Amino acid sequence: MSHVFVTRRVPGRAIEMLEEAGHEVVVWPGDFPPDPESLREGVHKADAALTLVTDPVGADLLDAAPGLRVVANMAVGYDNVDAEAAAAAGVWATNTPGVLHETTADLAFALLLAAARNVVLSDRDTREGGWQTWSPTGFLGPDPYGATLGIVGLGEIGRAVARRARGFGMTVLAATRTPRPEVERGLGVERVPFPELLERSDFVTLHVPYGPETEGLMGAAEFAAMKESAILVNTSRGGVVDQDALVEALRAGAIGGAALDVTVPEPLPLDHPLFEFPNVVITPHIGSASHATRARMAEMAAQNVIAVLAGEEPPNPVNRPPNPRSA
Ligand code: GLV
Repeated sequence: MSHVFVTRRVPGRAIEMLEEAGHEVVVWPGDFPPDPESLREGVHKADAALTLVTDPVGADLLDAAPGLRVVANMAVGYDNVDAEAAAAAGVWATNTPGVLHETTADLAFALLLAAARNVVLSDRDTREGGWQTWSPTGFLGPDPYGATLGIVGLGEIGRAVARRARGFGMTVLAATRTPRPEVERGLGVERVPFPELLERSDFVTLHVPYGPETEGLMGAAEFAAMKESAILVNTSRGGVVDQDALVEALRAGAIGGAALDVTVPEPLPLDHPLFEFPNVVITPHIGSASHATRARMAEMAAQNVIAVLAGEEPPNPVNRPPNPRSA
């Protein structure tokens, strides 16, 4: 019987699926991630781990888990997993593509609308008794309808955002590494160089994976290039934005606002300067947080575990161990 360590309670049928496949499953019971020592203990005797974005999986952890054959991350992003070190150790690493892009695009759009139309700010004000009369000048913001949206990264999530933008009559620009003229034409998207996107967009939304190439992609120069009225939306990873430069840009009025589902660190400490700005909306990394999507993500991670423990290749690998460990 194989042992699977699941680093938090997860929704959907994932645990039943693992048990039905004949595996013994240990679920970390806490509402917080296992601390490093508990994570090491959890994986020490495990054949598989089902992990979350809150679990750092590096070479040291892999060393502590000689029997581990797969790390199935319940997320599309896997910057928390050292996939190369895993491959070198013979351990598959997997993710959950294709199931969360619509849900995450919904949140990107929700944030865009919330920031533009002062949804959060006016709700807060209303609860504090601020709604005294209908005001012709209160809570004015830019119109998303008919505005120019700049999408950075035209992967699954970026494309799902582009489809939504069409319904809002937006001009859609995209900065992407790989030109895909047919995809761009189909979406009605104009591919432009990144600096041009920054200059022309009323809203800039980030949909690139986090890594050495995208770390601090939005820095002081990029904020300076944006329109003073433009709003930044980030549902990718906090590290894609140089947060100190963002704070400076907001202080200087170099941009119109920001809506962030991801920060560095997570959670963002309450005394962080980003909380000082009324034109900043912050949500707690909930991009994929719909009932159905989170269940699908967990089930997909479970399927990856089940495949590897059955001696097969996982359906969603993000690495390729030359010599996969076997039972
Ligand atoms: C969540 O952040 C994910 O990458 O799926």
